[in-house]
Formats: sequence, structure tokens, C-alpha cells
Amino acid sequence: MGNSIRIGALVSGGGSNLQAIIDACGSGAVDGDVVFVAADTPGAGGLERARRHGIPTFVCEYRKIFETYREDPAGFKLPDDFDPDLAFSRQGLFNARGDRREIAAFLATRAAAESRLLEGMAGYPFDLLVLAGFMRKLSPYIIDRINTDPSLPRIMNIHPALLPAFPGTDGYGDTVRYGCKVGGCTVHFVDYGEDTGPIIGQRAFAIRPDDTLETVRARGLRLEWELYPACIQLFAENRLKVVEKSHPGPGGGVFIRKVVKIT
Ligand code: GRF
Repeated sequence: MGNSIRIGALVSGGGSNLQAIIDACGSGAVDGDVVFVAADTPGAGGLERARRHGIPTFVCEYRKIFETYREDPAGFKLPDDFDPDLAFSRQGLFNARGDRREIAAFLATRAAAESRLLEGMAGYPFDLLVLAGFMRKLSPYIIDRINTDPSLPRIMNIHPALLPAFPGTDGYGDTVRYGCKVGGCTVHFVDYGEDTGPIIGQRAFAIRPDDTLETVRARGLRLEWELYPACIQLFAENRLKVVEKSHPGPGGGVFIRKVVKIT
């Protein structure tokens, strides 16, 4: 790489981060092009933004797939290459001691949805997949089919909090509810857990006493629009490397973690 990269994007909502990425590609701040935008719902505003720029779009309606499963779990069609035990052993979204049937149902329905996404993506070869406000968790099924080279993860996400604080769906809300004096956003590679992957970049901002959730969200989003393209450009320049780091852990053990080295 180090040339122009092909970027695929997944969205669920308004797509302001997608817009920032499209604009950065247009201005040359990102050496790349968005080659497709896919959504989990036809109502995602990001689809319309993509269409305005002539970017191909498609939708994989997760909700309909879940309904089909609920109506007839036994007859639910799974992808031929889905291995439930492998998915269960790899996933990091649930405590493995949790309800095995519930976890299995989650992984099966995700694999079905993700295989449709992969089918759609097959028409648009890409170097990097960016989650730009995509409100569905990715399971090992799709992650393993995109990250075929373990040394080069190819899926990025932006999260509205300073990870590892406040993973989950409401980063700015949690930041405000906890009375934090600093908020921020994080871009990371996607791994098998929820917002747990190696951190690529972060931006932080002060929270003032008169701030509300709305002002915090607005300030955070403005930083997201700078941070995401900057991290994508590091990927385009081939400057991101995931390495394993070990440190002495608390209580005498060893703490080992994959981290991103920016070269
Ligand atoms: C952003 O706050 C992003 O961090 C989070 O979802 C929101 C998406 O906003 N994952 P938009 O759709 O990009 O405007």
C-alpha cells in the first residue's frame, strides 16, 4: 500500500463521519476513495449522502433476518461455511459462562446477516472497511473473512468516548452521566470484543460545568470528523502496525496486549 486505498463503509445513522471521510478523500487529505456504503437499515441517512456523491450503496436489513429467525429458529438458513463452535470460541462479546443458547442464537443470526453483507461487498473490492456509526456488533464470522492477514487488521471503528472507558452504545451519554471532566473519541481496529480492539488515535476535550449532553456530543463529533480521516490516512500510508506488548501486570502477573505502533 502507500497508494490510494479503496474504502468500504458501513453506516446505520446520519453519516456525518462518512461525510467527513468522503470530503477528506475529495480534498486529498485521505489518499483514497469510498467505493461502497452499506447499511443495516434502508432509513440510514448515510445512504443518501453516499448517493449524492455517486457512491454505490446497498442495504442488508438485519431486522428482517432476526424476524425470520424468531419465526422459525429450526428452519433458519445458516451460511454453509458457518462454524458455530469456532464462532463461540472466538467471540469476545459475551462472557462464555453466559446463556449458551442465547449466545448461539446471536452468533447464528449475525453470521446470516454478515454473509449477506459479504455478498454485497464482493462486488466492490476494498482495502479498508470503516464502521461509521454502524450500530451492529460484528461477529467473528465477518471479521475472520475480512482480516485474512492476522498482521494487518482491515476494519476500523470510531467510538464516542476515550476507550477503554465507556464501550457500548452511548459513549457521550456515559461520559456525561459519570460527571467526567474530559470527554473524547477513539478510533480503533475492530477485534472480537465490544470496542476492545487496538487503539489507533484519540482526541480529548474539556467538559465545562455548563455543558449538556447535546453540547458534549456536538464538540465530540467535530473532533471525530478530524480524527477518523487522520487515522485512515495513516492506514493509507501503511504506517499502522499491530504489535503485542507485554508489561508486568498487577500482582506479579504479565499483562499482554495488542497495540498499534505508528511508524
Ligand atoms: C458517532 O458519534 C460515532 O462515534 C458513533 O456513532 C455516531 C455516528 O454519527 N459510533 P454519524 O452517523 O457519523 O453522524
